[in-house]
Amino acid sequence: MQTAKPASWYGRNNSNIAIEERYRLLIDAVHDYAIFMLEPTGCVASWNQGAQRIKGYTPDEIVGQHFSLFYTAEDIADGRPARLLDAAMRRGRVEDEGWRVRKDGSRFWANVIITAVYDEHAALVGFAKITRDLTERRRLDELERAHMTSALVQHARENEQKRLARELHDDLGQRLVALKMALARHQTELLETSTEAHSAHLPSLGEISAQIDELTVSVRRIAADLRPLLLDDFGLEAALESMAHDFEHRHGVTVQCDLDPHMPQLDEPASTALFRVAQEALTNIARHARAHTVTLGLTGHGAIIRLKIRDDGTGFDTHAAARPDAFGLTGMRERMLQLGGTLSIESAPGAGTAIVAELRLPAAQRVRLTEPRA
Ligand SMILES: Nc1ncnc2c1ncn2[C@@H]1O[C@H](COP(=O)(O)OP(=O)(O)OP(=O)(O)O)[C@@H](O)[C@H]1O
Ligand SMILES: [Mg+2]
Repeated sequence: MQTAKPASWYGRNNSNIAIEERYRLLIDAVHDYAIFMLEPTGCVASWNQGAQRIKGYTPDEIVGQHFSLFYTAEDIADGRPARLLDAAMRRGRVEDEGWRVRKDGSRFWANVIITAVYDEHAALVGFAKITRDLTERRRLDELERAHMTSALVQHARENEQKRLARELHDDLGQRLVALKMALARHQTELLETSTEAHSAHLPSLGEISAQIDELTVSVRRIAADLRPLLLDDFGLEAALESMAHDFEHRHGVTVQCDLDPHMPQLDEPASTALFRVAQEALTNIARHARAHTVTLGLTGHGAIIRLKIRDDGTGFDTHAAARPDAFGLTGMRERMLQLGGTLSIESAPGAGTAIVAELRLPAAQRVRLTEPRA
């Protein structure tokens, strides 16, 4: 076999046996990689500890068996093992990534390098194969991708809601105002030129006017639920106060707002995430808590921004299995995690609920703590 060995390998004992023994020991000591040789036919010729650990076979069980045993049925049907050996022969080396099968039938995601080995007469003596188990790394990559996708989807949704809220407010809202003014003009004209026939229409005009008022309130509410324009125009504190005020009005539950007057200015992702957490917490209180009083606190001490929503309602068992179709609490936690923050839920039956969302300000934003607010 033609292998260039560094001088340090020869040491004091210069015999080939000693060298081969050192190689064997070295290869056996490697636990994280399966390192083994294949005959030119593709049958396993040697086996190291790493190979046993990753694939599950002892040397006795595997030496002499064809290496296609490590491939999935689909890959075998597709001729992948033979194709890889062929590519290694043509190019000297081939790298591949894909599913491989352990002795117990379970699959792992493998990175494989196959190198063709030739003797001094350029005759093929076999293939050196190095396999790494990348299952865990792949799982982490997938998790990271899922997080990124979910953040992108949320961002796109938030933008779409912002666009819809603006259109509802600026377009439909303005048209309703114009309609109401036109109607008021008609009412005045009718009153001024009132004949008996005309006067008969006045009550129905009054009804239409009242309906336009209701429609205006509904449009504002739908727009605010989609995305409160206050959040973009005046910041988180204003949006929270307005939402709390609306909540009191709609549900008859007292909301005490305790908002730190020295809050640093937050960037859009942070203020949107905190607003959405408060919005879902209040929605949950309205739907599940039967509470009398809610306190909504926002503090910005040092580098930590803390939002706390506490209610004195029914509370619930936080250890009970979540309903598969319940996304509110999961969504809150996901939003916080995406920004490197945390969400904790304190609740017990009969003891009310407290939701605490915390974000750590990045260093660049922390500087603004000392600057006057815009
Ligand atoms: N403030 C609260 N008081 C009492 N129970 C609550 C409160 N907040 C949440 N819960 C309980 O926790 C469960 C999960 O809440 P979550 O917001 O995840 O789902 P949901 O509100 O049921 O549905 P959705 O997906 O529409 O939000 C609720 O079904 C309810 O039983
Ligand atoms: Mg909910």
